Amino acid sequence: MNFLILGSGGREHAIAWKLSQSHLLKKLYIAPGNPGTANIGTNLDIDILNFESVKQACIDHKIDIVFVGPEEPLVKGIHDSFNTDSRVKQVKIIGPTKNGAMLEGSKDFAKAFMTRHSIPTARYKTFISNQFQEANQFLFELKPPYVIKADGLAAGKGVVICNEIEDAKRCIQEFFSGKFGGASKKIVIEEFLNGIELSVFVLTDGKSYVILPEAKDYKRIGDGDTGLNTGGMGAISPVPFANPNFMRKVENQIISPTINGLIKDGIDYTGIIFIGLMKVEGNPYVIEYNVRMGDPETEVVIPRIESDLAEMFFLAGERKLSDYKLNISTKVASTVIMVSGGYPEEYKKGKVINGLADFSDVAIFHSGTKRVGDAIITAGGRVLALTAMSDTMDESLAKSYKVANIVNFEGKYFRKDIGNDLKHFKH
Ligand code: AMP
Ligand code: GLY
Repeated sequence: MNFLILGSGGREHAIAWKLSQSHLLKKLYIAPGNPGTANIGTNLDIDILNFESVKQACIDHKIDIVFVGPEEPLVKGIHDSFNTDSRVKQVKIIGPTKNGAMLEGSKDFAKAFMTRHSIPTARYKTFISNQFQEANQFLFELKPPYVIKADGLAAGKGVVICNEIEDAKRCIQEFFSGKFGGASKKIVIEEFLNGIELSVFVLTDGKSYVILPEAKDYKRIGDGDTGLNTGGMGAISPVPFANPNFMRKVENQIISPTINGLIKDGIDYTGIIFIGLMKVEGNPYVIEYNVRMGDPETEVVIPRIESDLAEMFFLAGERKLSDYKLNISTKVASTVIMVSGGYPEEYKKGKVINGLADFSDVAIFHSGTKRVGDAIITAGGRVLALTAMSDTMDESLAKSYKVANIVNFEGKYFRKDIGNDLKHFKH
């Protein structure tokens, strides 16, 4: 089988790395990819939002399966575009059509979906920009802190949590006046859930599903979960507080009603459902759905999958996922993200990365890098993901951190406390 992965980050590198180990794989292409994926497949320099280019690449390279990494092509309808084009109709797309991608593309859609299908989530109301008064009024029905979300995609920045009602009102005003363009002309205000977060990943063919390893990511830039939000500074899998009893609740109260809800609503969904969960007093609540894998969660989820990933995607595409047997390693995987100094605010690019070698027990996934001649230079905020696996979380983290101290570039930064909050739970 020939595979095409769309995307260019650590997530896509991790998927490429795993697919490259499959005996079912003939040729692997990544668009646009990065210097890491170039070592295991062929990078194609195309714009993944230009669906005509993606289709032409599928024709030229006889692609059987496309795995869509980021959400934007899905929300913009790449799957639908393939379905309605006889030249590429037979290509299997792992990723939902536009209506399924609304689970991530519209917070209001996702909340209404959960309400309709009795899936536990925070109480909420949706408002449009001429409802400033009504939105303010709703704040009085809630206890602080207040959670305000732009309805549409806002590059991970569309959620604001305010402790004071005056700040919440100011934020509503800002959103309505177009802080995120059209994405914040509609907002969701919801109750704050006080608990501990984790990410659960499901692959579905629209009928059956496979629950992939769960993970915890570390979103803030600073140690002790301080400072600005980032794309993610590290991740751990498994999550020790996601014990079998809790995961049973997740499956019965959330995963199964989600898949059945999609069927009832007539949404034909092939792809990943990433469920952002809050565990509150032992019970799971959905914070958000995403229609793709997480980054950096993928960099710990994928290494723990022992079975064949190409076979899993193939069976999902054939709607035969019920035939798939997922084997998961009991080892702990950790990843530490090295970022450019200044990220997530302004930072410099183009710094030469030294010390990149083949480490026998640490996989280095590229996130924001570029090759210039023989050198690899920094080309983004998140630069590298350093993933290790071991019998214990401490041993795994020690391996990731050892490499984080060897690999070097000017201004490098990484969090030193990944996994610390999980140490008092038993793995
Ligand atoms: P989202 O983009 O919806 O995942 O929100 C970003 C982050 O905001 C989440 O990962 C949570 O940490 C936080 N968050 C979102 N909604 C809530 C909520 N209702 N209660 C508490 N925290 C929340
Ligand atoms: N790490 C969170 C995300 O990918 O959205």
